Amino acid sequence: MAIKIGIANRKGGIGKSSTALALAAGLKNRGYKVLMIDTDPQRNTTNVYKAQTDGVATLYDIIFAGYKAADCIQHTEYGDIIASDENLQNADTQIKLGPGMYKYIRNAVKDVENDYDFIIYDTQPHAGILLGNVLMSCQYVITPCTCDAFGIQGIMDFYETINEYQEDNENLTILGLLIIKYNGRQSLTKDIEENLLPSYAEKMNTKVFNTRIRESVKCREAQTLRRSIFDYAPKSTTAIDYNTLIDEILKEVE
Ligand SMILES: Nc1ncnc2c1ncn2[C@@H]1O[C@H](COP(=O)(O)OP(=O)(O)OP(=O)(O)O)[C@@H](O)[C@H]1O
Ligand SMILES: [Mg+2]
Repeated sequence: MAIKIGIANRKGGIGKSSTALALAAGLKNRGYKVLMIDTDPQRNTTNVYKAQTDGVATLYDIIFAGYKAADCIQHTEYGDIIASDENLQNADTQIKLGPGMYKYIRNAVKDVENDYDFIIYDTQPHAGILLGNVLMSCQYVITPCTCDAFGIQGIMDFYETINEYQEDNENLTILGLLIIKYNGRQSLTKDIEENLLPSYAEKMNTKVFNTRIRESVKCREAQTLRRSIFDYAPKSTTAIDYNTLIDEILKEVE
């Protein structure tokens, strides 16, 4: 049965897609069967996977047409993915309101849960029907944040969102807060890293991962070339750090 991990934060541009991409590729490299579900209508992850969005079934069909996951999976060189769809931008206003509206993804993935070791969900940067569907479907959330005043803003609000879904999805836990785009311990960020973030983590019943993902230009380059960081720059700090993070995650979830 797949271990399901959502990469989420209500903040934009904070490294959700980068983390989802690196985890999926790193786990696949270790021989695990991984399915990526891109739930962000921006389709950054879909794009890196070079997945199709026209003339194929996507997440849109799961949300609006009752498709099952197996109907929508594309097998790409990067890995298996359910692509997102730009039409999902209006999902919040188009969705038929009702008790089942947060369970489309959860119900759709049931038919493939035994085919994968991990299902990774990339998410969009705000609370709404798509994030709600992810939080009803996954067991774990990893929340990337940067070690600066803006980078940690809104984390406690995000925790409130998670709390709401924990009432209906009792398996849902925050696996950890992940410091990314890390520049080393600096006097300006030291207090955030050593005091503020750990105190937020404690309030959220979670921890800050020991691994920090260092900032590296290789991360952007790999994404521009639509390659995994492990394939494009295996010796880069980003690749090394994501591998260490995967060790840390596996120790906890397996
Ligand atoms: N470790 C890193 N080092 C350098 N740049 C990074 C690193 N991680 C992410 N980035 C860059 O930061 C930018 C934002 O990252 P990303 O797209 O993963 O964030 P996001 O949270 O998914 O954004 P959105 O909310 O728009 O979906 C990207 O250009 C990405 O290449
Ligand atoms: Mg993203």
